[in-house]
Amino acid sequence: DIIPIIMAGGSGSRLWPLSRTHFPKQFLPLAGSSSLLQDTIARCDGLNCADPIVISNEKHRFIIAEQFRQHSTNHQGIILEPEGRNTAPAIALAAIHAMRNGEDPLLLVLAADHVIQHSACFQDAVRRAISSAAEGMLVTFGIVPDRAETGYGYIRCGQLTNEQSSAFHVEAFVEKPNQIVAQEYVNAGYLWNSGMFLFRASSFLSELDKYHPAILATCQLAYDGKHSDLDFIRIDNEAFLSSPSESIDYAVMEKTDRAAVVAMDAGWSDVGSWDSLWEVTEKDHNSNAIRGDVMTEGSHHCYVYSQNRLVTTVGIENLIVIETKDAVLVAHKDSVQDIKKVVSRLELDG
Ligand code: GDD
Ligand code: MG
Repeated sequence: DIIPIIMAGGSGSRLWPLSRTHFPKQFLPLAGSSSLLQDTIARCDGLNCADPIVISNEKHRFIIAEQFRQHSTNHQGIILEPEGRNTAPAIALAAIHAMRNGEDPLLLVLAADHVIQHSACFQDAVRRAISSAAEGMLVTFGIVPDRAETGYGYIRCGQLTNEQSSAFHVEAFVEKPNQIVAQEYVNAGYLWNSGMFLFRASSFLSELDKYHPAILATCQLAYDGKHSDLDFIRIDNEAFLSSPSESIDYAVMEKTDRAAVVAMDAGWSDVGSWDSLWEVTEKDHNSNAIRGDVMTEGSHHCYVYSQNRLVTTVGIENLIVIETKDAVLVAHKDSVQDIKKVVSRLELDG
């Protein structure tokens, strides 16, 4: 059996003002009528997976429980973090929980905030990854890059390791290179790391133990001190908070020699910012992506969202305009990465 591990602890600050601290993007219907979390759950239908394990911040527990209920799907626990320590500890806790009955299942680690246009291609890639993962490899899903994005991990493919799964050995994994290096990697045919993984729980934990034993030790302590509260699994917060904060990419994937990659061409997008959301949204004949009560005139390549009132744009290009009840954002598409600076200033000002 494969257990989906859904990581839902991100803050989504670059999609402010729609995405808020108390209601981040993974819980919003950004790409259709259901939320990104619900899309993530639905994407596994047909893979014959066990019920998922979710790991997230405690303040979002009721949103998650409610979204599972709406989707009529069960889960094997929602593990609550008092505060994020990035993805390596989050996945470690979920892996320890998945092994609670002495089994060693395959874990399909998924981000709750990705858009994938072709579920069938995603499922096909997962099926192709199974035999490599069962043999002990940490399999990631690789995407052919179309730009020198610096927010992603890059993978140099080596030899074919497994004919059956068309999985390639990962010769090098470089997380978030700078712009110049990213461009060199794109030219040299590297793949992006999609941030989704398939591996045995024990494979991940033993590689984590090898390269970052402090994370494993603190997560084990945190899990041993757990108690249940309704649907939720509360851990020993003090132990967990003493874990180093590190992503799986830096803590394990850059270091392990047991990594493999299966290519995936499924219309994948990490909708991290407004420009990437514009990319995956259906557009009108002027290339505007429009949601809500919006009227455009002589405007091109814009993303315009209205929540409460009519929004009109005249003669503008490449702008993001987001109207919500208490905040309006107008940003240039080239500056959308800087929205998180506004959010941190707002948080500082209280
Ligand atoms: N539970 C929990 N706790 N979840 C977390 C935490 C945490 O502390 N931090 C992040 N997450 C969740 C986010 O909600 C997201 O779904 C996922 O884990 C990945 O975290 P991001 O913070 O979005 O990572 P990233 O986008 O910078 O980089 C990762 O994804 C890229 C592709 O989207 C890396 O894996 C890159 O290598 C990869 O290219
Ligand atoms: Mg991301």
